Formats: sequence, C-alpha cells, structure tokens
Amino acid sequence: MIQFNEEAMRQYQAILKRYPEKRPALIPVLILAQKEFGWISQEVAEYVGSLMGYPASDVLSVATFYTMLRKKPVGKYHMEICRNVSCWLMGTYPCVDEIKRRLGVEAEEITEDGKFSWNLTECLGSCGTAPAMQVGDRYYENLTPESVGEIIEKLAND
Ligand code: FES
Repeated sequence: MIQFNEEAMRQYQAILKRYPEKRPALIPVLILAQKEFGWISQEVAEYVGSLMGYPASDVLSVATFYTMLRKKPVGKYHMEICRNVSCWLMGTYPCVDEIKRRLGVEAEEITEDGKFSWNLTECLGSCGTAPAMQVGDRYYENLTPESVGEIIEKLAND
C-alpha cells in the first residue's frame, strides 16, 4: 500500500493549513501526490481520498479534469513541450522531431529504460521565450533542436 513519506506528509499538512476547508486543497494535494508517486492511479486516488475524506471517484473526477495531473505512468523525465501559437511559430515541431529521433518513442510512450517520455501541452506561460518545455519543476526556453538534444543528453547521464 502506498503512502506519503515523512517529508511528503509534512508538505501535505502544510497545504491543508493554507485553506479554510479541505476541498480547495485537493488540487495541490494531487500535485504533491503526483510528485511522490509519478501519476494519479486508482491506488493514488484511493490513498488521497482516504487522507482527505473523499471517495476515490471524487478524487479521480478532479484529476481527470486537469491535464497537468497525469492519468498514465510517465518516464523519470517527462518532457512537456508547448504547442500553442508562440511556441508553434518559433519551432516546437522541429524540436519534437529531434525528441522523437533521439528517444525513439511517440507522445505518451516511455523509453525502454524508463527514463523519458514526452507530450505536447498547452501554453506554459513562457510565450516570450518560445519554444518552451517543462521537465518536472524546471523550464527550458528558447529551444532549438540542438538545445533539446543537449538537454536529453544531460538528463540521460543524470
Ligand atoms: S505559447 Fe508556448 S509558452 Fe505560451
């Protein structure tokens, strides 16, 4: 059975303190759960629901609404590349071609070593430095196929 480790439980308690009631805390708690467990599985939904006093179906109904909450497993480094107008105009798709060439997987697939996955996402709020990509908590901006290749190499050796 999954459960938050000590540090995650401390963060969970801190999140709850920020809200007058539990319901609005559900999204940040799900983000925390995703960081801890990788994605929002049925098991994770049941665990979060048991912590907060909601049925798993309630938790999943929130998780399925937000694309930032993953409903499938991803690689250790999940690359989310913006496909909205600024990024698209500035070269998202040549970068995507480079990702596909280097990783050999399509969107939502995971490399055999479990290290990488990628997908296209909506605006990351970094339009002025397009094209942009998010990997975990980190943003990469002004991407080119060359810089994407360097990022992949660096992460692969991490
Ligand atoms: S359009 Fe890509 S970050 Fe906004």
